[in-house]
Amino acid sequence: MTTLRWCLLFMLKYPHVLRRVQVEIDDVIGRGRLPCMADQDNMPYTRATIAEVQRVGNIVPLNLKHSTTAEIELGGYVIPAGTTVIANLTAILNDPKYFPEPEKFRPERHLDERGDFVQNEALIPFSIGEIT
Ligand code: HEM
Repeated sequence: MTTLRWCLLFMLKYPHVLRRVQVEIDDVIGRGRLPCMADQDNMPYTRATIAEVQRVGNIVPLNLKHSTTAEIELGGYVIPAGTTVIANLTAILNDPKYFPEPEKFRPERHLDERGDFVQNEALIPFSIGEIT
């Protein structure tokens, strides 16, 4: 719900993006049927827009709290077992190394030169790792 609200807001703010998404929806799905997962491969701009909404919307900025089950060394730091770890998803989703000019809402950043959707490894709005 929160992501959908961000999406509506961005579509109002960036009508040129809205128009391109609408054209793609009309071309690929049309008005006579419901969308299906197979459509996704033919809708790179819409996928890219959803990816950018998730990146900028950033609805769980500090993830959920996790804790280490065993001592681990990370980046030269030793983290003891049982330490609470808070992953700063905001920092990752706005890292200019992965998302140049991160403050800009720009779906094209998720497309390659042929216009195909590219999964950016730093796009982790759902966090990473396993839940055990
Ligand atoms: C775009 C929408 C959503 C985003 C970006 C999102 C993001 C997240 C994130 C970042 C976490 C923490 C993961 C972690 O601790 O590693 C999480 C956990 C969770 N989410 Fe979502 N979520 C979304 C939608 C939903 C929906 C629709 C549901 C339920 C219908 C849901 C249910 C849960 C539950 C139950 C957890 C806790 C899992 C656990 O730690 O056991 N989420 N979500």
